[in-house]
Amino acid sequence: MQPEPKKISVLGPPGSGKGTQCSLLQKRFFCAHLSVGDLLRAEVVKPGSPYAELIRENIKEGRIGPKELTVRFMKQAMDGVAKEGVQSFFLDGFPRRLDQAEYFEEKVGPVSLVLVLECPSAVLLERLLSRRRADDDTGTIQKRIDTFNKTTAQVLEKYEAMGKVVRVDGNHDVEKVAADIQYVLRQAGVELQTRAGLGLKAEA
Ligand code: ADP
Ligand code: C5P
Ligand code: MG
Repeated sequence: MQPEPKKISVLGPPGSGKGTQCSLLQKRFFCAHLSVGDLLRAEVVKPGSPYAELIRENIKEGRIGPKELTVRFMKQAMDGVAKEGVQSFFLDGFPRRLDQAEYFEEKVGPVSLVLVLECPSAVLLERLLSRRRADDDTGTIQKRIDTFNKTTAQVLEKYEAMGKVVRVDGNHDVEKVAADIQYVLRQAGVELQTRAGLGLKAEA
């Protein structure tokens, strides 16, 4: 029987490089990058979605959404890729609040490891202002940074107490951060197989 896939939560303030690094991992290794934030943004533009207004408002205010909805989105995404036999799930920006963490563990299973990308606020601001996604205006950015410091910090405390947190300095160039992530994952016992080594095509 296949072992239970590892669920690796990737956290850090907005702009710390979570999406960039998870997407590189998925490109290079046989693993899955799952972003609730991206799924929520897609839901907002889905015609007739009953959740669109709530999600739009939450994103604008930097507020964390309800546990039921976010865990459902994450679980659906996990079920979608689990069939392919992926052994490592990178949960990009999830869980972001204690109730999301607890509900996820109840409904899906334990988070194996929490990878935190650290980055000074001045660098985050500079990066996000040049990313210029719709929700990257200075007001929303500051609210998201505050939410990370107040709310997501409690999630980190929970996993810190369990000895599950590893940290990487995200304030280096993308390839240096990627190499440091691979190092800490290996140290933490997460074995990633290259897509090429498995005879798989590189991800687009
Ligand atoms: P997050 O998902 O944590 O909010 P992103 O991965 O979307 O962060 O990165 C935010 C912005 O910063 C993007 O424009 C991205 O291209 C850029 N970026 C990400 N990592 C780095 C890095 N190590 N150095 C410089 N810019 C980066
Ligand atoms: O991860 P990202 O920064 O793209 O998330 C965008 C927004 O999606 C967050 O500011 C929040 O409103 C919502 N979100 C959430 N719960 C998560 C991840 C994202 O409510 N676990
Ligand atoms: Mg992101």
